Amino acid sequence: MSNTYLTWAKNNMRLNVAEGLHDFIQADCLEWLAQQSSQTYSKRFDLIFLDPPTFSNSKRMQDAFDVQNHHVELIRQAASLLTEQGVLYFSTNFRRFKLDEQHLSDLTITDISKKTVPLDFARTPKIHYCWRITKHA
Ligand SMILES: C[S@@+](CC[C@H](N)C(=O)[O-])C[C@H]1O[C@@H](n2cnc3c(N)ncnc32)[C@H](O)[C@@H]1O
Repeated sequence: MSNTYLTWAKNNMRLNVAEGLHDFIQADCLEWLAQQSSQTYSKRFDLIFLDPPTFSNSKRMQDAFDVQNHHVELIRQAASLLTEQGVLYFSTNFRRFKLDEQHLSDLTITDISKKTVPLDFARTPKIHYCWRITKHA
């Protein structure tokens, strides 16, 4: 959504990977995901990283975003854009976060938080949570 960060992303991609291989889309991700996931023939992805903020009420968004309240819908929309064997990684740094597995029970979800917390934070593991999510087991 941010022009500044998108420019950083483009510069980092150019320095680390190559130019012209990736698309950079400036959009409200919530609107973009809702639009893409409602289309039968939208693009599908082998790999999705979903790393939303804990809370956001940017002027560019229609409504405020709260990861605890909105994660089920967000994960569902992102998962609907996966290829059959695709993998979605969902992460959050909200310490009190609780994944609503009951409302995501049709997806295969593995908690990989322990593997993704840096060693420096091993004694405070609640700084970060991460899940590997697929459509099939
Ligand atoms: C937790 S950070 C992700 C950090 C990123 N994964 C990284 O390693 O640099 C969340 C990001 O989402 C962006 N953001 C917040 N709301 C958004 C929205 N509705 N659409 C698109 N981006 C949004 C914020 O500007 C912020 O850069």
